[in-house]
Amino acid sequence: MREVKVGIIGLGNVGLGTLRILAENAAQIELKLGFRLSVRVVCSRNPAAKQLPDAFRDVPRTSDWKQVVTHPEVDIVAELVGGTTVASEIVQAAIANGKSVVTANKELMALAGAEIWDRAIAAGINLAMEASVAGGIPIHAVLREGISGDRIVALYGILNGTCNYIMTEIERCGADFAEVLAEAQRLGYAEADPSADIDGADARSKLAILAALAFGERITPDDIYTEGIRRISPVDFQYAERLGHTIRLICAARQSKQGLVLSVRPSLIPRGTILASVQGAYNAVWVRGRYGEDTFYYGKGAGPEPTGVAVVSDLMRVAREIRRGSPERVSPFAHERLGEYRPIPVETQKSAFYLRFRVKDRPGIIATLGRILADRGISIDAVLQLPSDSKDDLPFVITLERSREAAVREALEQMRTLDFMVEDPLAMPMETAL
Ligand SMILES: NC(=O)c1ccc[n+]([C@@H]2O[C@H](COP(=O)([O-])OP(=O)(O)OC[C@H]3O[C@@H](n4cnc5c(N)ncnc54)[C@H](OP(=O)(O)O)[C@@H]3O)[C@@H](O)[C@H]2O)c1
Repeated sequence: MREVKVGIIGLGNVGLGTLRILAENAAQIELKLGFRLSVRVVCSRNPAAKQLPDAFRDVPRTSDWKQVVTHPEVDIVAELVGGTTVASEIVQAAIANGKSVVTANKELMALAGAEIWDRAIAAGINLAMEASVAGGIPIHAVLREGISGDRIVALYGILNGTCNYIMTEIERCGADFAEVLAEAQRLGYAEADPSADIDGADARSKLAILAALAFGERITPDDIYTEGIRRISPVDFQYAERLGHTIRLICAARQSKQGLVLSVRPSLIPRGTILASVQGAYNAVWVRGRYGEDTFYYGKGAGPEPTGVAVVSDLMRVAREIRRGSPERVSPFAHERLGEYRPIPVETQKSAFYLRFRVKDRPGIIATLGRILADRGISIDAVLQLPSDSKDDLPFVITLERSREAAVREALEQMRTLDFMVEDPLAMPMETAL
C-alpha cells in the first residue's frame, strides 16, 4: 500500500520525541494503519547538530522550512516550532501548498485557530492539533467526539505542569516560591524565562482552545481573566489546609445564566476533590455535562514523549484521512457565536473568597477591614490566624461568604491603601462547585 509522507519542522523537545516514537514504534504504527508513515525531510534552525534516531540518519535535513512546505513528496507538515510568528507562516504556507498540517502550537491555535481551520477546509486539507493542549491527554478527541453529544456545563482544568509542580512542591516541603521555582528550573520543569507559565498565559491559551471546543464559542485569550501564581506562599497552603482545602492554578470555563465565565487563577479547592490529588507536573481536565455528568481525564501534560504520542497519533489520523478521504471535514471552531455562551466578566459573578493579609500588628485591624467589607454588603465567614512570632509581618486570613467579585475587588482596592498593610492583600476564590 502507498505510504503517507511527512515533513517535520522543529527538532526540539517535541520534534525529537515525535521522531523517537516514529522510529521505535514504526512496525506497530504500520500495522495499525495498514500502510507506512515515512519521514521525507526534517528541519530546524541548526539541523546538522541534531542527534536523530538511526532510522532517520539519512533523511534530508534543512534549515529552510520553505523547502518542507513546498516539498513535492510531503503530504503532511508537522509544525513543532511554537510561537505565533514563524509558526504562523509555516502553517499558512503549508495550507497554501495543499499540505495537511499537524501542530502542537497552543499559542497559535488559541489566537487564530478558527481562521486557520477555515483556510484549511477551504483548501481541502486536514488539520490536527491534539498536542496543543495537555500534551499526553487526548482531550481534543474527547470534546470533539467522545462527549460531543452532551451539553457541557463546566470544564475545570489543571493545564500547566510547571505551575502544578511548583504549587505541589510548596505544599509538600513548605519552601518559598522563589526557591521552588529555581529547583524546577534546575530539573527542567520550568523554562529559563518562566513568565509564560507562572503568569498564566500558557494555561490561558489552552483554556481558550478547550472552552471553544467545549462550548462551541469563538473564544480568544483576551476573553479569559488571568492571574498567575507568583504570590502564593507556604502560609497560604497552611491556611488552606485549616479550611479543608488546597490551592491549584485552576482553569475554569463554566456556563452561568448570564453567559460563559472564563478564568485562569490560583484557587482554593476542597481537599476531597479529585483535582486536589493532581500532583507534580501532571495535568487534568474535569468536564461536567448536563446528561453524562462528570468525566475526568488525567495524564502527563508535557514532555517529549507524551506530547510526541499526541503528534504521532495526529499524524496517523490525518494519514488515514488522506488515504481514505474525509469529505466531512469540520472545524472544531466551526460554530458561530451562539450568544448563549458569550464570555462575561468574572467580576459579575458571586463566589466565596479567601483573603490573605500581611500586616503590622496593632489593635483594631479586623474591625477596620470588617467595616470596609460591611460597607459593600460583604459578609465575613471566618477569621483565621495561625501562631506567629512576627508582629511586623503578621499573616492572617479572612474568608468571605459568597460575594460579588466586583464588590470584593473594590474592598481590596481600599484595603491596600491602609498603613498597616505590609503588602497588597491576596484574594483567591474558593471553588465550591467541584
Ligand atoms: N515541550 C513540551 O512538552 C510541549 C508540550 C505540548 C506542546 N508543546 C508545543 O510544541 C511546540 C514545540 O515545543 P518544544 O518544546 O519542542 O520547543 P523547542 O524545544 O524550543 O523546539 C523548537 C524547535 O523549533 C526550531 N525552530 C525555531 N525557529 C525555527 C525556524 N525559523 N525554522 C526552523 N526551525 C525553527 C528550533 O530549531 P533549533 O533546535 O535548531 O534551534 C527547535 O528545534 C510549541 O508550540 C509548544 O508550545 C510543547
